Amino acid sequence: MKSIFASFAALACLTGSAFAQDDQDLIARGAYISRLGDCVACHTAPGGTPYAGGRAIISDLGTIFSTNITPDPRSGIGSYTEAQFSDAVRHGLRADGAHLYPAMPYPSYSKITDEDMHALYAYFMKGVEPAAQASPQTDLGFPFNQRWGMVFWNAVFSSSTSFAPQTAASDAINRGAYLVEGLGHCGSCHTKRGFGMQEKAYDAKSDAFLAGGELNGWPVPSLRAKAATGPGIAGWSEQDIVDYLAEGRNRFAAVGGEMKDVVAHSSSYMSDQDLHAIAAYLKTLTPSAPENAKPASAAAETASRLTAAKNLTLGERVYIDNCGACHFVDGRGGQKIFPTLDGASIVTGKSPVGLITTILAGASTPSTPKGPSVNLMPGFANRLSNEEIAALATFVRGAWTNDADAVSDKQVGEIRTHLEAGSSH
Ligand code: HEC
Ligand code: HEC
Ligand code: HEC
Repeated sequence: MKSIFASFAALACLTGSAFAQDDQDLIARGAYISRLGDCVACHTAPGGTPYAGGRAIISDLGTIFSTNITPDPRSGIGSYTEAQFSDAVRHGLRADGAHLYPAMPYPSYSKITDEDMHALYAYFMKGVEPAAQASPQTDLGFPFNQRWGMVFWNAVFSSSTSFAPQTAASDAINRGAYLVEGLGHCGSCHTKRGFGMQEKAYDAKSDAFLAGGELNGWPVPSLRAKAATGPGIAGWSEQDIVDYLAEGRNRFAAVGGEMKDVVAHSSSYMSDQDLHAIAAYLKTLTPSAPENAKPASAAAETASRLTAAKNLTLGERVYIDNCGACHFVDGRGGQKIFPTLDGASIVTGKSPVGLITTILAGASTPSTPKGPSVNLMPGFANRLSNEEIAALATFVRGAWTNDADAVSDKQVGEIRTHLEAGSSH
């Protein structure tokens, strides 16, 4: 009799821990999905508690503050049911019925599967520490303060479609499409926006999808990678794309601008299988004809002018004295340490803001599990005048196969003033 009780108790214990283990697995899966969706990037203020909100997101409508999505019942989403959570994430509908602004990328998240939503909910309710911390109120001017207006925006612009795998494509490509179009919301930066601030396309059916654009003046390159030759990602192999997303660097480029946060908080945590799926999917998208590029033979001309070092222009001289030691006369740098300037999207972008900012302020690669070393480029703000930087940037934008517009002293001066204002508080 005693032994029956004992085995009963043991059985109860076993099933108890089996349930707890299921719970733990679900929460861990939800934590990974939150990485894929990069929820922490927007929902954390600089230096603040993860997911407690309060980060200011600058949009064309005005400044929008992210909200506290920790499970605190008063300042967070602790009282959200799973259905309410799903409505907020996939349809931009807050629990009180108000409409969210599309600074929250719900048009992309509408593709998240029910299964992934379920794990995400378990993680936010049970895996995230509650933080009692109110986020600042978003207060846009009229008419954007009228949240009900978003009903029309959603009707006209938003894609509220669930994800439909292509039967003709491999599992890897379908997984990649799900991650890029859905959770990864890559299009929210890499797709141009239309007159209503909506992304021009939300999936591979349109050539505008992931064709590149600009983010607060910084060029955002195209991710359409189906080609064997450059410029940009079109000349990268699947492994080059994987390296960039996992380590923030590859044999051509080093990550900068807002992509640095994407790598640091999201893509460097993705499994190899998921990174390869993303790369395989991007390799199915046909790029549009390259802009701002000269024929390949032009590369050697610049290199030999710099090597001969006769009758150099101001820009060429500044390059040799300050940049050549690391980026070399051929502008090709050194694998995984010094990025390529020939054909790099940050150099040839329509807007020179990323290039000038990098020259003035310097840059560093993020430290990630697979790429722990931090590669540093010094800033030149104290060493070079606006005139020298303008001449240098103009040279680099037209050197080798690059064929982008000249830069003026005035443009450099404006960015210098902006950076100085930013670092003084
Ligand atoms: C690109 C920035 C961005 C990302 C990425 C992002 N959010 Fe948001 N989210 C916002 C902003 C901004 C708001 C508030 C919008 C508003 O006030 O209209 C918001 C609102 C929300 C809300 C509504 C909360 C409330 O009560 O107001 C939830 C829930 C939410 N986000 C969950 C998530 C989850 C889960 C993820 C990851 C899968 C995520 N968000 C990723 C920017 C983002
Ligand atoms: C918050 C905006 C933002 C989001 C979201 C974003 N990116 Fe980026 N991405 C950028 C910017 C800006 C650059 C340019 C980086 C630079 O100048 O060094 C970039 C560069 C890249 C590059 C390098 C291309 C080249 O030609 O140099 C790749 C690859 C890339 N992103 C992939 C992705 C993928 C995949 C996703 C989604 C999982 C994604 N990005 C989401 C802003 C973003
Ligand atoms: C001491 C070596 C060194 C010197 C000198 C140097 N750089 Fe760099 N540069 C780097 C490293 C390392 C990176 C990668 C850092 C990053 O972007 O995360 C980089 C990145 C860049 C990038 C961004 C590339 C990308 O793929 O996003 C540009 C543009 C650039 N450098 C231009 C210049 C110019 C122009 C000069 C001369 C004023 C210069 N660099 C001088 C080491 C150097």
